[in-house]
Amino acid sequence: MALFPRFQLFEIEDMSWCPSWLREYSHRALHQMWNTVGPGRTSSTAAQACDILVSKLPEAPSAFTFVDACAGAGGPTPMLERNLNTRLHALGQKPVRFVLADLYPDWAAWKKITSASENISFISKPVDATTVTRYVDDKTLECRLFNLCFHHFDNDQAAKILRASIQGSDAFVIFEMTQRNIPALLNTSIVILSPLVTTLLWFWWSPMHLLLTYVIPVVPLFFAWDGYVSCIRTRSANEIRDLITAEEKLGLDTSEWTFHYGETKVLPPFGNLYWFVGVKGRRDS
Ligand SMILES: C[S@@+](CC[C@H](N)C(=O)[O-])C[C@H]1O[C@@H](n2cnc3c(N)ncnc32)[C@H](O)[C@@H]1O
Repeated sequence: MALFPRFQLFEIEDMSWCPSWLREYSHRALHQMWNTVGPGRTSSTAAQACDILVSKLPEAPSAFTFVDACAGAGGPTPMLERNLNTRLHALGQKPVRFVLADLYPDWAAWKKITSASENISFISKPVDATTVTRYVDDKTLECRLFNLCFHHFDNDQAAKILRASIQGSDAFVIFEMTQRNIPALLNTSIVILSPLVTTLLWFWWSPMHLLLTYVIPVVPLFFAWDGYVSCIRTRSANEIRDLITAEEKLGLDTSEWTFHYGETKVLPPFGNLYWFVGVKGRRDS
């Protein structure tokens, strides 16, 4: 249940004037969130995201190619790939492929990622997730991943992304860590305070990071603005479903699709992974 209405405010990270070191700091913090094993958990956020993929997709994961459609600097994809393919390897199955795509590709980050894994590639031109028909050929099923990015889009863009995914892919998954509820606001507050520790761990050698964290608190204020705005912008599962319903009224055929949603406690005590999964071709759950 959302505490207040959704507003499409802006995040500093999305602004062209946002300094790259601040954006990189935020990416590092998000990376940490995916990689951390929360208290009382036996696996990381990324591993638990893989559990959701495995349990909700209608076919074995090996039947799919996973497309990180708004990949940014790569987000959790290397962790998802490692985790999923370690499981498949243990079962004697062939590895799945991951593809990075974005309207504003981060070639440098992607080259680093793809050189470290033969199962990850990238699309070497900008791809607009609101209009794309298909990212991969028809030999494998296509599952589009929207990792912590769906809240960045206004309703018009979000509806187009859902329409394009339903028309062009075989499954799509929206992962968010923010929401308009008390646990998400509390978890975000912890993330906002995290630079007070991580600046010392990661950037102890940088006078700029130290100054802008502890003396003039630019870093915590940036984390606070973008963190709370992310919460305010994130759609509930019902709001995502409403966007699909509105598209259905405009003629979108979803008769073959099933939608699942839920939340998984990944970073106790407050951190939940909120997921919305659309799959084509299974009507029985
Ligand atoms: C929050 S960032 C990326 C988050 C990333 N998935 C992660 O987990 O770190 C959102 C990304 O969406 C991309 N983007 C914005 N509009 C897009 C569009 N129409 N199609 C594809 N990507 C888009 C931006 O370039 C940006 O990299």
